[in-house]
Amino acid sequence: MSDIKPRITALGSHVPATCVTNDELAAKIDTSDEWIFSHTGIKSRHIADDETATSDLAIAALKALSKEQNIELDTIDALIVATATQDYPGFPSTACVIQAKLGLPPIAAFDISAGCTGFIYALEIAKALAASKTYRRIAVVGSEKLTAITDWTDRNTCVLFGDGAGCAFVEMSDTGHEIVDSVLHSEGTGASYLSIPTGGTAYVDESTIEGNPRKIHMDGRAVYNFAVRVMCSVIEELVVRNGCSTDDIDWFVPHQANSRIIAAAAKRLKIDLEKFYINIDQYANTSAASIPIALAEMAQKALLKPGQRVITVGFGAGLTYGGNLLKW
Ligand code: UT7
Repeated sequence: MSDIKPRITALGSHVPATCVTNDELAAKIDTSDEWIFSHTGIKSRHIADDETATSDLAIAALKALSKEQNIELDTIDALIVATATQDYPGFPSTACVIQAKLGLPPIAAFDISAGCTGFIYALEIAKALAASKTYRRIAVVGSEKLTAITDWTDRNTCVLFGDGAGCAFVEMSDTGHEIVDSVLHSEGTGASYLSIPTGGTAYVDESTIEGNPRKIHMDGRAVYNFAVRVMCSVIEELVVRNGCSTDDIDWFVPHQANSRIIAAAAKRLKIDLEKFYINIDQYANTSAASIPIALAEMAQKALLKPGQRVITVGFGAGLTYGGNLLKW
C-alpha cells in the first residue's frame, strides 16, 4: 500500500570556514571563555566574511544537499527562506536573490519572518504546499548572517550569535521523514524583549535608544524565562494532540540558544537530557538555521533511525515559538 505523505526527503547544511573561539572574542571585548561557556554552553561560532551574504550561506547549504543526495537544484519549484537577516531590507526577498544567483526558472520564492522559529514555520508551510499538489519539490532553508546585525560593543549579546544555514526538501513521497504535525504560536506583546529597534517604517526617536538602534537588542533574562516556558508548552501540546507521551519521542531537536534553557526545560518536563540534541558549543545561536543544521548533522551521524519520532522546538523574536512532530 502506498504511503504518500508530505515528507522531508533530503537535508543539507553549511557554516562559514572561519571559526572564532571564546578566547579569541575575549581578546577583543570584556568577556571570558569561562563566562560564556558557563552561561550559555557556547565554545565557538562560525563567522561569515564581509563579502558573504545570507543568500550565499543558503546556496552553500543547498549545494551541499544537492551534492550529497545527487539531486539537481533546478528540480525545485518552490523556495522558502526563513531568515531574520535578509540580504536587502525588505526586497528583493532573500529567496528571490537565491533564485537569481542559482539561475532557477520561475518558481514560488519567498521569505518567512518568524525569528528563530522561522524554519519550524516554513516546514509547516512547505507541508501545506506539498499536500496541495501545486508544488512538487519545496526547498526550505533557514539561513542567517547574524553577525551582521550584532552589536559588537554589547557583550551581553555579541558573544551569543553565529552564522550558518541548513535546508530541507519537502515533497509528497512514500520515502523520507513524515511531517506529522506542527504547533505555531506567537506572543507579540513580548516583541520588545528581542528586537532591532529602528530601521523599519515605525517611527522611533533613535536618540531615546541606548546602544546601536539598528542592531539586536535583547532582555536576556526575559527571553530566557519565556524560552523555558514555551519549550515545555510546545512539547506538551504536540504530544497530547498526537495521543502520545514524551516517553514515545526518541529525539528532541531544540533551537540552540542556550544549553541552560534546554536543560531547564528538560528538567521541568522530566525528560532525560540525553534525548535533546545539543551542538551549540560549536555554532552558538544561528537563529532560523540552528534546527536544520542540527537535523542535517544528526542525519549525517546516523543518529536518526527509521520509525523514530522527533520533535523540533524553537522560540525567538516576535516573540514566536513552535515545534514540529516528525516521524523518521
Ligand atoms: O534565539 C533566542 C534569543 N536569545 C536567547 O534565547 C537568549 C536568552 N537569554 C540567555 O541565554 C541568558 O539570559 C544570557 C546568556 C543572555 C545571560 O545569562 P544570565 O545568566 O541571564 O546573565 P545575566 O544577564 O543575569 O548577567 C549576569 C552578569 C551581569 O553582570 P552583573 O550586572 O551581575 O555584574 C552581566 O553584566 O554577567 C555579565 N555579563 C557578562 N560578563 C562577561 C553579561 N554578558 C557578559 C559577557 N561576559 N559576555
